[in-house]
Amino acid sequence: MGVISAKTLGAKFLILMVVCLTITNFYIPTMYYQYLKSSVPHGHQDESGETLYANLRRLQIEIQETFRKFDEKQRFIDGKAFNPAVWNEGNWEREEGYQTRKRSLLRFKPNCKQPPFLLIQVHSTPENFMAREAIRMSWGRPDNNINKDGVMKQKVPGMWKTVFLLGQTLNPKLDNLLHDEARKNGDMAFGDFIDSYRNLTSKMVFGIKWATKHCQAEYVMKADEDSFINIHDLVLWLNEHHERSKSHSKSLYMGAALVNTEPIRDLGSPFYVSRREYPYPIYPPYAPGPGYVFSGDLLTNLSLVMKYVKLFPNEDACLGVLMKFLKVELTYNERFLPFSMGKATYWQYQGYSICEFIHALVIHRISGKLQIQTHFNVLVLKHTRTICHHIKSGVGEPEFEVLGGR
Ligand SMILES: *[C@@H]1O[C@H](CO)[C@@H](O)[C@H](O)[C@H]1NC(C)=O
Ligand SMILES: *[C@@H]1O[C@H](CO)[C@@H](O)[C@H](O)[C@H]1NC(C)=O
Repeated sequence: MGVISAKTLGAKFLILMVVCLTITNFYIPTMYYQYLKSSVPHGHQDESGETLYANLRRLQIEIQETFRKFDEKQRFIDGKAFNPAVWNEGNWEREEGYQTRKRSLLRFKPNCKQPPFLLIQVHSTPENFMAREAIRMSWGRPDNNINKDGVMKQKVPGMWKTVFLLGQTLNPKLDNLLHDEARKNGDMAFGDFIDSYRNLTSKMVFGIKWATKHCQAEYVMKADEDSFINIHDLVLWLNEHHERSKSHSKSLYMGAALVNTEPIRDLGSPFYVSRREYPYPIYPPYAPGPGYVFSGDLLTNLSLVMKYVKLFPNEDACLGVLMKFLKVELTYNERFLPFSMGKATYWQYQGYSICEFIHALVIHRISGKLQIQTHFNVLVLKHTRTICHHIKSGVGEPEFEVLGGR
């Protein structure tokens, strides 16, 4: 646990600050509440001490409960059926019924009778059960206890919806597990292609076709299963953008930006793209895959042009080409942190403070339990913006010391 205490702030309050939320556990200590309770009414813009205390208490209970559920699930996954050693064993290609069963996942269709404001499509890998579970337990679902009320109170029910996109697996045992998961959660859509790295463009295409046909949200986001989405801020941002853009009808394509990127012509690279697949020396500007958003009104046109534009196996650049074709310009948003930008500091928690990431809308390389933790941390900071204020102004430095440690 990473709780640091500053020695003093005047003589009045003992401050305990919650930062440095490490990969292990994170609980808000009671003393921290005491600090907030006593200090907040003194001209801070935060909620009143009582409400704050109650909200933090609620968050604490909720995170404990969520971690408990996650661990329970992990034990279940580690159990026999989900163990790769088990579902990978034997000569499953020859098993009876394999050929017919192969495509049976296609019948699972997430329900999208009422399209959400924001549809998040997570490119997922069949065997990554826990990555999906962590997303479901954190930012993925608006109906999680933690997201239903409090700071995440929604203006409109069903503001966002998360759907996992997968391809077909060749393994019947894995297939069975996916059947159960899809039936139970109703949030998985399976395309008619083999799920593999080189087939990611098929997944992107499938996502667009599926949304065009079944789920025309106002905005569509693509994320990876190790992307953390600051869902509250993202929805707010899009909501404001939506209001602002009512006067003009310019479509949005937004994310981090890759500009003047050359196709990789090295045959040995997993990112190899041949001159036949893409003949030009550079790609148009495009948003890297850990997270980008585009307007739902582009879906129909994207589906149309996909038939005429030559597709190639760099799915993000490929979308950039489609967008260029539709004359939609990429909007660069520095709040989308792609690739390993967050990794060095966040993942390895070298001097990491959540405050450095509080403005991010997307952070890449956050997965499993860290998803849940980050989601809660962001919620805590929403209640207590003063934490970061204190840290910025160097309160307590350099005598920070780590307390607790579970
Ligand atoms: C991509 O999917 C297609 C259709 O299922 C399959 O024939 C092909 O082998 C897959 N490619 C790779 C590289 O997995
Ligand atoms: C889709 O394409 C049509 C025909 O080019 C165009 O008139 C329309 O504005 C496009 N829609 C969007 C949302 O870009």
